[in-house]
Amino acid sequence: MAAPSKKSMCAVSLNPDQKADYRELRDFLSTLELILDQAYLGLVFVDTEGIIRFMNKQYEELIGVDRDATYGKHITEYFPDSRLPVVIQTGKAEMGWKYHYPGGTTLVVNRIPILRDEKMIGALTQCIFRDISELKDMARSLDLLREKVHTYKAQLSDLLKPKYTFRDILGVSEGLNHVKDMARRYAQAESPILITGETGTGKELLAHSIHNASNGRRGPFVCLNCASIPSELLESELFGYTAGAFTGAHNKGKTGKIEMARGGTLFLDEIGELPLIAQAKLLRVLEEKRVEKVGAVIPEEVDFRLVAATNRNMDFLLDEGKFRQDLYFRLSGLTLHIPPLRERREDILILSQHFLKQISTRPVEITDRALRALMTYSWPGNVRELKNALDRAVCLAQHGNVIDLDELPGHITAASLNRLNNPDQTDDAAEQLDMKRKFSDDEVLLIKRALSFCRGNKSRAAKMLGISRSSLYNKMERYSLN
Ligand SMILES: Nc1ncnc2c1ncn2[C@@H]1O[C@H](COP(=O)(O)OP(=O)(O)O)[C@@H](O)[C@H]1O
Ligand SMILES: [Mg+2]
Repeated sequence: MAAPSKKSMCAVSLNPDQKADYRELRDFLSTLELILDQAYLGLVFVDTEGIIRFMNKQYEELIGVDRDATYGKHITEYFPDSRLPVVIQTGKAEMGWKYHYPGGTTLVVNRIPILRDEKMIGALTQCIFRDISELKDMARSLDLLREKVHTYKAQLSDLLKPKYTFRDILGVSEGLNHVKDMARRYAQAESPILITGETGTGKELLAHSIHNASNGRRGPFVCLNCASIPSELLESELFGYTAGAFTGAHNKGKTGKIEMARGGTLFLDEIGELPLIAQAKLLRVLEEKRVEKVGAVIPEEVDFRLVAATNRNMDFLLDEGKFRQDLYFRLSGLTLHIPPLRERREDILILSQHFLKQISTRPVEITDRALRALMTYSWPGNVRELKNALDRAVCLAQHGNVIDLDELPGHITAASLNRLNNPDQTDDAAEQLDMKRKFSDDEVLLIKRALSFCRGNKSRAAKMLGISRSSLYNKMERYSLN
């Protein structure tokens, strides 16, 4: 394979055509040699007699002998125990063998018989790893990667596991305990469950607990918030799609949340926001227990438990034609309604104590008048709003261990002062914030009120409504409130 030397060229007399052919051949061979020199592998080729006919630069460096000097010599002159003659004899390749080279290096090699037109023309040695320590390094990295995958898998299954049980749902009120009782019973059934309640009342917490008490508790718990994803993407998120289902689709396809929830629970939060087309598809999945990916021809069987939640007034959505009757009937067989916090004020104290312990490492006390303010306020954002108010209070009370009126948000204390001064009147601030009760049918008004109360501050308004900022932006766009 090595390009013929100038000496041999002068010894033969050629006509001009032959010379041109010869030059072309020589150029081709030297290009080939250059290419083989770039290979990561060390290569040496011997003919059927065991005579070295070619070696690349990597191999030359490995044995430390000028390669030109080796051409024409028998391989055993350099490697007395070379197995290339054996491979030529048997015609069988030897893959992944260790070889101790003179000088102490141990390499991993393949020895391959080379055939042309089914006739043996020689054999090739490829050094796969230049040094056995390289292989060890790779094995070590592989072990490390394996370990990482193992850890991530464990973390993922932790994430998919429900975090809460019924014991985490705190409260002493009759209203809450009734819901917990019913939920415990419903958990055993197979049918879908619909949880209703204002924002921040603990719907997600209840869904987690239901999963944990259900027959599928060892399976995954998969959440999808229908309001947090643009409606065009919801369908593929929920049902998944096959490779190449549409332009822009990930070329490997996508597993939908329904499929991910196989053997466990799918929690569809804010189901009132599910587009009508997806509603029809979801109903079919529930009835047939089979899911059809976007672009798929054959539906796949899926077995999962659906728990849905909404803070919307479903009657209103049904009247408006925004929610399908048939899906609603399928979902509402087992309905759980969590009462708002203002209808179970007995829970405020135990919840406050619990959150304070969670938030602060040091013991924190609440003064009587601050507690009275908490007990009087109407909590339109329910338990979430209470938690946020206490978070802020602990932050403000950093130098003391006492939460007083000063540490509570103005509108909360205003509500309680108003009520103290005018016991017969409902307080302005509380009434203004008590939007959910009055306007639960009218989301537009609710958002407008929250925005005006927060003087246009969208982050605060979203927090107050118990929705994410992006979901507030989506809603504002939908209702042209910008
Ligand atoms: N009864 C409760 N006991 C303890 N924490 C609660 C309770 N209800 C709600 N929470 C907490 O309040 C917050 C809001 O609850 P979440 O389940 O997200 O409400 P929703 O889904 O109804 O908006 C969460 O931090 C949750 O842990
Ligand atoms: Mg929620």
